[in-house]
Amino acid sequence: MPTVQLIYASSVSKDLTVMEIKELVNEAQRDNVGFGITGFLCANSQYFLQCIEGESRAVNVLFQKISKDVRHHSVAIIKYSEIEVIQFSDWSMGAVLDIDKHMDVVTQFSPDGVFNPYLLSGDDNLNFILAFSQIRRG
Ligand SMILES: Cc1cc2nc3c(=O)[nH]c(=O)nc-3n(C[C@H](O)[C@H](O)[C@H](O)COP(=O)(O)O)c2cc1C
Repeated sequence: MPTVQLIYASSVSKDLTVMEIKELVNEAQRDNVGFGITGFLCANSQYFLQCIEGESRAVNVLFQKISKDVRHHSVAIIKYSEIEVIQFSDWSMGAVLDIDKHMDVVTQFSPDGVFNPYLLSGDDNLNFILAFSQIRRG
C-alpha cells in the first residue's frame, strides 16, 4: 500500500468560531494517531488549507469524511502524490490558525497579501504549508 500526500483547500463555514476550529484541530490530532496520519493545517477566518499524509487507504477514508464535514465547504483537491518520505512526521496534525498574522509568508505567495489557496498552484500550496510548519517548529 503506497504512502500518499493529499492537499486540499476549503472555505470555512459561516459562523464557525475560532474556538470551534481549535476543537476541530484537537479532535484531528487525537484521531490521526490511531490511523497513522500526519499532516498540517493552515487557516484564517476564510480558508482551510490542509495536508494529510499516510497509507493511501487511511488518507482516502479520512478525506471522504473531511469532504462531507459541514464545518467547511467547497472542498477542492489541490495536490495528490505518492511519496517516499512523509514531510510532516512531527505532527499528527500541526496547525497555524492565524496565518494572516504572518504577512511576510503570505506575501511571498500572494503579493497582494490576500491569501487564497484556490488560486495557488499545488507546489506553491505545499511550500506555503511547509513555510508555516517551519514557523511552528520555531
Ligand atoms: C478542516 C477540517 C480538517 C479536519 N481534519 C481532520 C483530520 O486531520 N483528522 C480527523 O480525524 N478528522 C479531521 N476532521 C474531522 C472529520 O471531518 C470528522 O469529523 C472526523 O474524522 C470524525 O469523523 P467520524 O465521527 O465519522 O469518525 C477535519 C474536519 C475539518 C472541517
